[in-house]
Amino acid sequence: MATWAEAVGVPDNERHRWLRAVWLHDALRDAPPEELERWASSTPGPVELRHGPASAARAKAEGETDRGVLDAVRYHSMGLAEWDMVGRMLYCADYLEPGRGFDRERRAELARQLPDDPAGVLREVAAARLAHIVSSGWPILEPTARFWNSLLAAAPSKPD
Ligand SMILES: [Fe+2]
Repeated sequence: MATWAEAVGVPDNERHRWLRAVWLHDALRDAPPEELERWASSTPGPVELRHGPASAARAKAEGETDRGVLDAVRYHSMGLAEWDMVGRMLYCADYLEPGRGFDRERRAELARQLPDDPAGVLREVAAARLAHIVSSGWPILEPTARFWNSLLAAAPSKPD
């Protein structure tokens, strides 16, 4: 995210927002179930989807007030149509991070392309993540469906 922020040339305050989202997003990923329940008691669905909302709730309780940063953290596993750049970049970074073992070359290539084509890379990342949800037999949750449709609506129409 720091590399991308520099390559895109965003101002310092925006780069700091991106980095706060990175630091915060998985704060409670490995927390015990009762901790997740405490911070995200109203989050439905599988437990893997609770750490984002829980991390956001805790960040807010500890003083984070930036709505874009909180929404980035809260929805990083799901996607959100209303995201600003922070959420969009975190969603890409979470998928493209070099530490993941699968599809290394393709993901590294997308990470390289991102500063030149953030919207195109975001759409490819979303498509890959949705394909994974579908092939795993998981339901597509409502925020995820809305997020995907918003990306299609924003894309330039293809020539006939
Ligand atoms: Fe996560």
